[in-house]
Amino acid sequence: MSIVYLNGQFMPIEEAKISPLDRGFLFGDGIYEVIPAYDGNTVGLEPHMQRMFDGMAAIGIKCELTLEDWKAIIDGMMEKNGGGNQGIYLQVSRGADIKRYHAFPEGVTPTIFAMANPIKPAVEANAATAKGFSVATTQDLRWQRCQIKSTALLGNVLHFQQGYEGGNDEILLYNEKGNLTEASSSNAFIVKDGKVITPIQDNQILPGITRKIILSILEKDGSIPFEVRDISMEEVRNADEIWVTSSSKELAPVTTIDGQAVGNGEVGSVWEAAFKLYTAHKFEY
Ligand code: PDD
Repeated sequence: MSIVYLNGQFMPIEEAKISPLDRGFLFGDGIYEVIPAYDGNTVGLEPHMQRMFDGMAAIGIKCELTLEDWKAIIDGMMEKNGGGNQGIYLQVSRGADIKRYHAFPEGVTPTIFAMANPIKPAVEANAATAKGFSVATTQDLRWQRCQIKSTALLGNVLHFQQGYEGGNDEILLYNEKGNLTEASSSNAFIVKDGKVITPIQDNQILPGITRKIILSILEKDGSIPFEVRDISMEEVRNADEIWVTSSSKELAPVTTIDGQAVGNGEVGSVWEAAFKLYTAHKFEY
């Protein structure tokens, strides 16, 4: 049975109940995180928590839990759900008011929820055995505050579904200038002539922790050049490699875009080299 955490208590998921007036339910008024753990070891716990604190500050949710309190909840979730490979999901909504009214209510206690979802073991950094992802592309029609990891994910869900219904694993998004932003639930990278390139961190993309960790590892290692800049969709279509990154998929190599092969259609050698580095260093974050 899955054990979850709700407002100070661990309990079986069947016993976890919240008010229908919760603003997370009515307005998607909340912030969330997904922290991966392999064999019980988290990846990027502190940067994930920092992003959650930043998100709550950005939308004015006052949650009193400290980093230490969150670590205790995460440890409890791991332990009570059998450890191993888990995606720890954390959510704080603004809480439940006594009526539905758009303005932030006064004196409402945030609703704090955590659950653990089993995730697949990390894949091997081997281009010969890695599964190539297939992606579609579409104009990014989400809101203009994509840097906030909001629980209001309908824009992302509709984009993901669009790709999924076409038989794709993800969908790459571009802005009205025709530049790549990210994917519906991942950040995006391209590789051209041996160089890794990813879009600038601004309001058009989520500050992905996997993206941040990869860039930090590439910088420290120095063997693979990288650049952070605008990327046109023409460059994306002519790239040698495309990757999508997230806490649940780590670095996933894309081999098909809108039904066309990416590069030579095989999982690329730069992906393999970068993912080897990621695999070797991810637990340092
Ligand atoms: N999604 N961009 C978007 C829109 C995302 O939803 C995610 C993550 C990312 C990658 O962020 P990170 O590397 O920190 O996981 C980028 C999570 C996993 C989800 O919603 O389930």
